[in-house]
Amino acid sequence: MTAEGSKLWGGRFVGAIDPTMERFNASVSYDKRMWDADLRGSKAYAKALHRAQLLSAEEMEQILQGLDQVSEEWSKGTFVLKDGDEDIHTANERRLKELIGPAAGKLHTGRSRNDQVVTDMRLWLRDAIATLTNEALLLISAMVERAAVEIKVLFPGYTHMQRAQPIRWSHWMLSHAVALQRDVERLREISKRVNVLPLGSGAIAGTPFAIDRELLRKELLFDEVSLNSMDATGQRDFVAEFLFWASLCATHLSKVAEDLLLYSTKEFSFVTLADAYSTGSSLMPQKKNGDSLELIRSKAGRIFGRCTGFMMTLKGLPSTYNKDLQEDKEAMFDCYDSILAVLQVTAGVISTLKIDAGAMQAALSADMLATDLAYYLVRKGVAFREAHALAGKVVFTAESKKVPLNQLAREDLKAISPLLEGDVASVWDYESSVEQYSAPGGTAESSVRAQVEHLRAWVALQKT
Ligand code: ARG
Repeated sequence: MTAEGSKLWGGRFVGAIDPTMERFNASVSYDKRMWDADLRGSKAYAKALHRAQLLSAEEMEQILQGLDQVSEEWSKGTFVLKDGDEDIHTANERRLKELIGPAAGKLHTGRSRNDQVVTDMRLWLRDAIATLTNEALLLISAMVERAAVEIKVLFPGYTHMQRAQPIRWSHWMLSHAVALQRDVERLREISKRVNVLPLGSGAIAGTPFAIDRELLRKELLFDEVSLNSMDATGQRDFVAEFLFWASLCATHLSKVAEDLLLYSTKEFSFVTLADAYSTGSSLMPQKKNGDSLELIRSKAGRIFGRCTGFMMTLKGLPSTYNKDLQEDKEAMFDCYDSILAVLQVTAGVISTLKIDAGAMQAALSADMLATDLAYYLVRKGVAFREAHALAGKVVFTAESKKVPLNQLAREDLKAISPLLEGDVASVWDYESSVEQYSAPGGTAESSVRAQVEHLRAWVALQKT
């Protein structure tokens, strides 16, 4: 058992903490990931204490140098955690005291772990968001460049998982890039609310000392200073937003994964995953499994589970800091690790898979042009509802006669409508079908090119 005297809060306690409780209470095994954020926050705070005349220049220097030394130990991997290091804040302060002695005891003046932990979280998440933004942009670029190269390739578009209309493969690809574009925009929105300084809020009531919070804000590169100390220490909505963001982004990528899994089956044979992103079966030698895609698909469930779990933790909590909030970190770290891997593996899969343009083309069938047949009649002045019904009759007749739509005899067509004349043959061309859809957002080559250009320009803007 740890002697009560070594705890930050040991003063009013008699007797030692139960070892099971000690393990239950400790968060250092995972919050040590925030060692750098914790030290950056402490360095800024030491400067604010000096400005408030609570530390002499010499004491501040001692603390700053000591914190740099602690930082070096962490980066070299020589920092040794000790029994009783409850969390990263405790561990860093304990080590600082070992290194510089009594001056370390002044660092926590007016500060609470309540404003410290949430400062660390915000600093950490800010960096995490920058990394995720970069990875998402890399993935979007991989999709866009692939779409640009393979713009000529046509394949079946599905609704309800039934063949619907011919589309460009690149149109499919960009449909996912566009969802990711919104994810990046959402991330930027969240980032504004993450980048708010809580330090200087104390445990609940604020600080009674002349702590210059504007100085802290500048030192730590926050955009704003929190407005209310109770909100600053007790809120974790910025974490919840991030968890939801990761859930939605993972949901988008699970859809990409599901489509590609389907397209990679022998039955479809549209795409082949690179060996680098596939695995084999220990029993069936012929198998090549798309484990990368299955794992991408699965992570959406895991991440959303973390999100809902943490929402349940937040629900009904009383105001300000409660230890329940310690649960925020594992959820945040796990979602970050998972979504980062998902983004990276998806980019790898997308940039290395091979497509079989022949198989894609061969999967197109004339029935997918039934809508175009209706439009052909519309262009001859038939009201769409009627045109739809007539084209439906053509489909029915072809199905009854067991012939493809484009091979019905001229008399059969004439019997359905005299307007179905010789030039109806022009409908049975996949390329010209697709080219009709040239309004912005459609699948015609000009429209898909415009999407490519739009996304390229948007990505370039994000990087500046
Ligand atoms: N490890 C704690 C957490 O992550 C730090 C804050 C502790 N605050 C407290 N009042 N016990 O939430």
